[in-house]
Amino acid sequence: MEEPNQMGNIATGQNCIPGPRSILGWRMNMLRFFRNPFTYSRWLYETYGKTVAMGHGDNPSYVFAFGPDLNEQILTNPDLFKISSSLVKVPKDSLMGRMFYNNLLMMTGEKHKQYRRLMQPAFHRQQIVSYCNDMVQLTKQLSDSWLGLSEIELNHEMKKLTQRIAVKTLFGLYNEAELDQMGRLIHEITKSPLFVTLAPINIPGTPFHRALNSAKQLDAHIRVMIEEKRKNPNAVDVLSSLIQARDEDGTKLSDDELVGHTFSLYVAGHETTANALTWAFFLLSQHPDIQSNLLDELDGVLAGNDPTIEKLSSLSMLDGVIKETLRLLPPAGIGVRITSSSCQLGGFTIPKDTNVFFNQMITHRLPELYDQADLFKPERWRTIKRTAYEYLPFSAGEHMCMGSNFAIQEMKVVLAILLKRYRFSVVPNAKISPNMMMRPVHGMPMRIVPQDRQFQKTPVCGTIHQLVDF
Ligand code: HEM
Repeated sequence: MEEPNQMGNIATGQNCIPGPRSILGWRMNMLRFFRNPFTYSRWLYETYGKTVAMGHGDNPSYVFAFGPDLNEQILTNPDLFKISSSLVKVPKDSLMGRMFYNNLLMMTGEKHKQYRRLMQPAFHRQQIVSYCNDMVQLTKQLSDSWLGLSEIELNHEMKKLTQRIAVKTLFGLYNEAELDQMGRLIHEITKSPLFVTLAPINIPGTPFHRALNSAKQLDAHIRVMIEEKRKNPNAVDVLSSLIQARDEDGTKLSDDELVGHTFSLYVAGHETTANALTWAFFLLSQHPDIQSNLLDELDGVLAGNDPTIEKLSSLSMLDGVIKETLRLLPPAGIGVRITSSSCQLGGFTIPKDTNVFFNQMITHRLPELYDQADLFKPERWRTIKRTAYEYLPFSAGEHMCMGSNFAIQEMKVVLAILLKRYRFSVVPNAKISPNMMMRPVHGMPMRIVPQDRQFQKTPVCGTIHQLVDF
C-alpha cells in the first residue's frame, strides 16, 4: 500500500482532503477497496482519518466518511446526500425499468416519503407478528429435509429458507412448487445484477435477455395474484396489505408499482437475512461457551416448544447474538450517497456530484465505542446502548431498512429452531471468506449432527481471520 505523505493529499480548491496516491491512479485504489472492503477501509481510516478522498485535483470522484458524526450528517440530510440511481442503466419505461425503479431505495424527497407511508402498514409490528407461524413452519420443514444428512452448504440452505419465507409472507403462497417457481424466476432476474442493470443488451444468450424473459413471467404471475387478492380482502400477506394501502388523499399503488415494490422487497430482504444467519451459525460454532449458554437459554425458555412471539421477546442472549453478528459482519456494511450541491463534510468542502461512502463496518469497530471490537461478545449488549449512528446495521434516517423487525424476528425463529435440533460445526480447514455483501464466497460447509452439546471450535482458513478474532 502507499505511504501517506503531503503529496498524497488531494487538493480541492482551498481544500486538502487527505487520501492515498497511486501511480496507477485512483481507480487502482477503488479496485483495492472493492477487492477487500473491510481491510482497505480500515487502513484508510487509520492512515488518513475521518474524511478521505480518492481522485485527483479539485474534483475527487469518491469520498470516504468514517464515524458516527459523519454518519449522522450524511443520513440526516437526504436532500444534500442523495440516493443515487445513476448506476442503473435500464430504461425507466420498460418492463425491467418498472421492476427496478418502483423501489423505495431509488426514490427521493416527497415521493419517497409518500410511498414509504403507503408501505408502512405491511411492516407494522402486528403484521410482522402474524408472519411468525409461517417462519416457524418453513424452518421446521427445512430442518426435516436435513434428516439423514451429515454435511450441508449452510449459506445455500439459508438462502433457500429465507427465499421461501419471503415468497410465503410477501405473496401468501402455500404451495411448495409455486413457492419455489417464484423464487427461481426472481433468482434468474437478480443473479447477475451488474450485467442486468449496467448492460441491458437484449440479445439472445445475454444475461439481460434471460433476466427479461423471467421478468415477463414474474410480472404476469404477480398481476394474476393481484387480481385474486383483490377478491379476498382478508388475506394476510405483504402484497395484500400493499393492495389495500391508501394515503390520506386516497392515493394507492398502481399495479406497476405493486409489481415493482414486491419484487424489490424480495431482493432487499432475502439474501441479506440469509447471509446474516450464516454468520450467526458460524460465529456460534467457533465459540463453544457462548453456544452452550445460548442453548441453556433456549431450553429454559422454550422447554421443547416452538418459538412464539412472547417467548422470543424473553430470549435476551439470542438477541445479543444477533446484534453482535450484525455488528461484526453486517450484510450491508457500506452505503453510498451522492452530493446534490457543494457542501462541508468533516471540515472539508466536497464538490457537487461526489459519491460519498459511509461505513457501518468501520463504525462498528471503533474502540471508543466497542471494547475489544474484533471479538464476538454478545454479552456486551446487556450493558451498552448505542445511538442510531453508532450502531447501524440497518442504516439510519429516511432510508433506514423497512424490514429490520421482520429480519430480526426471522433470525430469532430460525436460530432457535435449528440450534435446538442440530449441532453445527464448520468443516475443518474450510476456506471462509466473506465478500462486500457478507456472502461467504467459497460457501459455508457445515457438519450437522443431532444436538448433543459436544461443541468444538474447528480450524478454518480464509479472509475471515482479517475480520474477526477467534
Ligand atoms: C439482516 C437483514 C437485513 C439487513 C442487514 C438490511 C439492511 C438494509 C440497509 C442497510 C438499508 C438501507 C440502505 C441505505 O441506507 O442505503 C436497507 C433498506 C431497505 N430494506 Fe433492508 N435489510 C435487511 C432485511 C430486510 C428485509 C427482510 C426487508 C423486507 C422484507 C428489507 C427491506 C428493505 C427496504 C424496503 C429498504 C429501503 C427503505 C427505504 O429506502 O426507505 N430489508 N436494508
